[in-house]
Amino acid sequence: MDLKEIEKSAIIEINNAHDIIELESIRVKYLGRHGDLTEILKSLKDFDLKERKKIGPKANDLRQELEKLLQNRKNDLVHRADFPAIDITAPGKKKEIGHLHPISKVQEQIEEIFSSMGFSVAEGPEIETEFYNFDALNIPANHPARDMWDTLWLKSQDSTPTPNKKLLLRTHTSPVQIHYMETHQPPIRIIAPGRAFRYEASDASHEVQFYQLEGLMVDKNISFANFKSVTSAFLKRIFNKNVKIRFRLDYFPFVEPGAEIAVSCPRCSGRGCSLCKQSGWLEIAGAGMVHPEVFKAVGYNPRDVRGFAFGFGLDRIAMVKYNIPDIRLFNSGDLRFIKQF
Ligand code: PHE
Repeated sequence: MDLKEIEKSAIIEINNAHDIIELESIRVKYLGRHGDLTEILKSLKDFDLKERKKIGPKANDLRQELEKLLQNRKNDLVHRADFPAIDITAPGKKKEIGHLHPISKVQEQIEEIFSSMGFSVAEGPEIETEFYNFDALNIPANHPARDMWDTLWLKSQDSTPTPNKKLLLRTHTSPVQIHYMETHQPPIRIIAPGRAFRYEASDASHEVQFYQLEGLMVDKNISFANFKSVTSAFLKRIFNKNVKIRFRLDYFPFVEPGAEIAVSCPRCSGRGCSLCKQSGWLEIAGAGMVHPEVFKAVGYNPRDVRGFAFGFGLDRIAMVKYNIPDIRLFNSGDLRFIKQF
């Protein structure tokens, strides 16, 4: 190509360039290291003096002209309203990759442990009727045990709802036991993780909403020994082998006998610290053998079946496992907290 041809085609191409990337390739084609015009400029030294004097200034003028045209076209393209400027040298935006919330992580681990012991995972509604949350669990109206679950009642459309049908936010996951037994026959082996709600003041270990993990095993001949071995096996796997487990008598209307399960405080190994309130133990579950009245409520014959149930505090387990000092951190939305997991 001679200078005339270069000038002609370069001008057309520059004017027709659609974007800066195309424009850049045109620049390279003519003015790059091996560009057409560059090659001519490089070869000037081989011409004789007369030729060189003739072509040299023309070639240099053309280079300046093309550079100017390229710059002008670039400005046009960048300032065109429908073409946002892209700075191809700017570093890219880093994509934030999320991860599971610590409660979900613990829940997954627990589900895995119980699955390996033959349990399946069940679910129940967060909005319950009085019947499922209380009556069917052997907590009749006026029973003082209802005080143990400060309840968030829901307003009903119906001004005089049938007793038993009043709606509430479930105060524990135990109603899932009832739903499941109503629709299944023994043998039963389930866990039911989920959210529960209580109308109480929040502090480092209490929240209005929190997570529980219900468990239920029912068959012809389930004993307290089965209960102890299943819960102990679970606790040793979720924490570690050296954790000490304490069973003490406790009262829940839907179990008899009832128990409270505590583990030796993992932070101080039982010596006493602020997490365990100097007791060396952390209570993490209510449990016991299913009460015959509960079997009756779901239509089972209490003479034919026996079983155990437990309700672990899922937040509690996560707090113990990850050494989290305050339950309110879970729902705080504080990224400094969440990013640690
Ligand atoms: N639902 C009880 C609570 O929330 C715990 C529990 C579950 C107790 C199952 C016994 C059996 O406190």
